[in-house]
Amino acid sequence: MAKDFSGMEDSNSSANPSIHEVSDPARRVWLGGGLALAAGSLFGPGLLTACASAAQQATNPVTLGRAIGFKSVAMAAIDAVVVPEGYRAQVLYRWGDPVGIAGQMPAFKPDASNTAAEQALQAGMHHDGMAFFPLDGGTRRGVLAMNHEYTDDGMLHTDGVKTWSAEKAFKSMAAHGVSVIEVERADSGWKVVTPSRYARRITARTPMRIAGPAAGHAMMKTAADPSGTLVLGTFNNCANGRTPWGTYLTCEENWAGYFEGPELPDAHQKRWGLRKGGGNYFRWQVADERFDATKHPNEFNRFGWIVEIDPMDPTSTPVKHTALGRAAHEGAATALTAGGKAVVYMGEDARFEYIYKFVSRDAMKPGGLAANRELLDHGTLYVARFDAGGKGEWLPLVHGQGPLTVANGFADQGEVLIKSRQASDALGATKMDRPEWTAVDPITKQVYCTLTNNSDRGKPDRPGADAANPRAPNTMGQIIRWQEQGDLDGTKFSWDHLVLAGDPAQPREGARGNVRGDIFGSPDGLWIDPRGVMWIQTDASSSVMGKGDYSNLPNNQMLACDPTKGDMRRFLVGPTGCEVTGIAMTSDLRTLFVNIQHPGESPSERSDPEAPSRFSKWPDGGRPRSATVVITKNDGGVIGT
Ligand code: FEO
Ligand code: CA
Ligand code: CA
Repeated sequence: MAKDFSGMEDSNSSANPSIHEVSDPARRVWLGGGLALAAGSLFGPGLLTACASAAQQATNPVTLGRAIGFKSVAMAAIDAVVVPEGYRAQVLYRWGDPVGIAGQMPAFKPDASNTAAEQALQAGMHHDGMAFFPLDGGTRRGVLAMNHEYTDDGMLHTDGVKTWSAEKAFKSMAAHGVSVIEVERADSGWKVVTPSRYARRITARTPMRIAGPAAGHAMMKTAADPSGTLVLGTFNNCANGRTPWGTYLTCEENWAGYFEGPELPDAHQKRWGLRKGGGNYFRWQVADERFDATKHPNEFNRFGWIVEIDPMDPTSTPVKHTALGRAAHEGAATALTAGGKAVVYMGEDARFEYIYKFVSRDAMKPGGLAANRELLDHGTLYVARFDAGGKGEWLPLVHGQGPLTVANGFADQGEVLIKSRQASDALGATKMDRPEWTAVDPITKQVYCTLTNNSDRGKPDRPGADAANPRAPNTMGQIIRWQEQGDLDGTKFSWDHLVLAGDPAQPREGARGNVRGDIFGSPDGLWIDPRGVMWIQTDASSSVMGKGDYSNLPNNQMLACDPTKGDMRRFLVGPTGCEVTGIAMTSDLRTLFVNIQHPGESPSERSDPEAPSRFSKWPDGGRPRSATVVITKNDGGVIGT
């Protein structure tokens, strides 16, 4: 998300050490400018075109390899999606489009006058992480599950936030959560299948089960749920994961910003960013008292989890898996060890927070979700320490080990997980520059994490540069990678940086980076496709784009990279004021789905309802609408070639 909930994004005042070293400046070699910079096909209002038919032969990603063949697109400051020559893009699923539940498909009203009840049957706002689940082999049909991270209430309601009501708060809750839609490739292009038996909206009020060591814990019990095992909703769902057993993982990120806190928060509340006035932005406490933490302090502990969703069963109950730890969760990239254990890599996106991994106790069994419902409930959570010299270690968050004792404020394993930040502080984990998405290279098993930026690094009372986070302040971000010693469940690793993002034309040394190829800043979305091509999506805040260190980067973008080589090639530039986030492909890698979030976001990050289309009219010429975009190659070929 671009919205900066700065009150809670930098709450790590723990004394665990930083390593005051700077990574090797010899790597900062600029080879840029050599790639073609011709703008490719554009589309915006009135320029949408349908997809051509595509070759349908099966693709073998292994034999195809990592080769990238498209011609780079130029950075652009226009209100359209730009893709390379030979590619086309089509809008598929916009905020307010009906999700496709039979008999319940209210049309979007361009003046934003849909009710809360209607919004709960339509696409939410601010599309983010996304995964594709194949049907019929997955080349022409499948299910897309996607997050709706948050709402811009200036845009969500006809008159914005001038007045406030319970109805507006409920509409905001209904525009959060997850969409599950069925998509199909017709001769005229991709479409959302409506109605569909898979169609579902999960919102901030959908009942879900709490599982794992913190389920039923005293800190999870509320007046409405004395069992501590049932909770309503998920929200601020940023990135995602897709499990090998066929489920969708959605990750709760800046959930702390939905709770009104006390005048004097206790140490636990403070460490997690709860504060008086914290509920002023979304104001949900007006409609639902559970968001007033002065009255219901434990409701706050029931958010910050990874939620597992069965995308194939709209009647299924989502599950919050507490064994994976509580965090301002970004992604949850999931892979298997040779023995079949699930390993989930997770970044916590806040300034000076941590990188985690979970290793399941058991191996995945054949039989899909039915055979693996408890796989994420038993295992070990680790936090990363990146040492100088390119070595690192995973530190277990296990009650009774090291400092994680009753004497130090951890009554049991449930409390270690609910207080995972405090546990990681005590273990001496490395404070990172806002860890966002993680990705596992399917060929080398190297693991990557985007560290988007950290404007607070180096401030007088904050940590300075260290080996893994070598710039202070860090406005541009970096991508760190590591190779586990042994298999993915190893506890030691070697690490380096794939790239320090930046722009070599900048006068400020700390903004230049060492990018080879097309420049970028604030990497966020990250995925390595089955053939080994890395896709990087950026999320520079609209308050910085086109200015200062970002003077040559007016819009957010998506790039491709062979991570074994490192050259960056720009594949897509998004519309004005948007973030590019969320990525998925069909099984044959010939259709790419990308989400465009908050087009037209104002520099103040909340829209003015008097002029909602002031900064963008994408995609329809009216109020800007976050949307899923489908990208295909005109010759029907594999995306990226
Ligand atoms: Fe929602 Fe960390 O981006
Ligand atoms: Ca993100
Ligand atoms: Ca971000």
